[in-house]
Amino acid sequence: MSYTVNILTTNETLVKIPFKSYEYPNLMELIINTYYEDIGECLGRGLCGTCHVKIIKGVLENTSETSEKTTLSKIYNVDTNSRLACQIMLNSKINNLTFKIITES
Ligand code: FES
Repeated sequence: MSYTVNILTTNETLVKIPFKSYEYPNLMELIINTYYEDIGECLGRGLCGTCHVKIIKGVLENTSETSEKTTLSKIYNVDTNSRLACQIMLNSKINNLTFKIITES
């Protein structure tokens, strides 16, 4: 089964990325492998915050772990729609959602 996730990149381009369930370990790896962005400094361990995204269209049940919340609490420009892309699994729950990549600049 194929799904699609929409990514608003740092230069405000909307990219539609098709994916299969669990094709990559997480959303961050999908973004890096299909549309290069300079994110993922800690390689998906949920520690660096460089894979900060915000859900701008759609709803994703917030199942974030304490470690994700701790990392988010230390970075810039966080709100209730903030998540770490490396902690989001590739499955039907993110089908057709739109995430914006957030950077400090
Ligand atoms: S890659 Fe470091 S927090 Fe996601």
